[in-house]
Amino acid sequence: MSETSVNQRKVAMIGCGFVGSATAFALMESGLFSEMVLIDADKNRAEGEALDISHGLPFARPMKIYAGDYDDIVDAAIIIVTAGANQKPDETRLDLVQKNVGIFKSIIPEIAKRNCGGILLIVSNPVDILTYTALKLSGFPENRVLGSGTVLDTARLKYNLGEHLNVDSRSVHAFIIGEHGDSELAAWSSATVSGVPINTFCEMRGHFNHDEATERIAENVKNSAYEIIAKKKATYFGVAMAVRRICEAIIRDEKSILPVSNLMHGEFGISDISLSMPAIVGAHGVENRIPITLDEEETEKLQSSAGTLKKIIEEVL
Ligand code: LAC
Repeated sequence: MSETSVNQRKVAMIGCGFVGSATAFALMESGLFSEMVLIDADKNRAEGEALDISHGLPFARPMKIYAGDYDDIVDAAIIIVTAGANQKPDETRLDLVQKNVGIFKSIIPEIAKRNCGGILLIVSNPVDILTYTALKLSGFPENRVLGSGTVLDTARLKYNLGEHLNVDSRSVHAFIIGEHGDSELAAWSSATVSGVPINTFCEMRGHFNHDEATERIAENVKNSAYEIIAKKKATYFGVAMAVRRICEAIIRDEKSILPVSNLMHGEFGISDISLSMPAIVGAHGVENRIPITLDEEETEKLQSSAGTLKKIIEEVL
């Protein structure tokens, strides 16, 4: 059966909790789409979010936003999945795996049997494991199944470095890679500020204790979600902006390099697991992964991160 042709201006959101509703708002503001269908197990929730955002459209631009069901997602260019339990205080993302894999086992087949032609963008946590789960359960070609991965973590790293160095965070080029979670790692060996190696730029700004600073900043990034959840019970605006950025690269075919979660094929000796690695993202989803340069320690950390995820996947899938 051939895939359904897609409406490039349509997006589907499965899950209308904190993350789904914040992302729906960010996507409305982005102007990328003219139609958005919201799906939630609680149909009232989906209807309420659709009405709430729609009432602001006179301040923005025309857009059809409505609560629907799985038959309404078939021609969406991007199908975003945020459904699932989210982290409670002191809970890790991996603690969610059993419950959310179970939820995916009911959601993804509903998408798969409708022969959707769009791109499946996974946001629910643990996002790397759930991206792999969605790939296996959906039967979609792997370029059309990606996860938000460490796009948000990388933004957090850029933000922290921008503050530390008193420079525009958009001029910082550095990646968090591996698991979107406790085993993530900062690829310091390839980090620059507009081409200037990070340590050289640090010294330009009067910072010389590189080991202390990089360790502190990487820990700060890794623990950001815990800190925010302890203060406001959940995170949603940052990840909503990360998902908007991924959708922008897809819909505008920007071929942007973003650390999305996608199936590895032997890079750094890692395969058959979805990990967050820099990749070229465009109209066809993930077009290529970028084999960034890692030093020996970073490679070992990445392989360890992959091993952790693989062990869990063997238990749950
Ligand atoms: C966070 C969630 C999206 O890192 O995992 O805020």
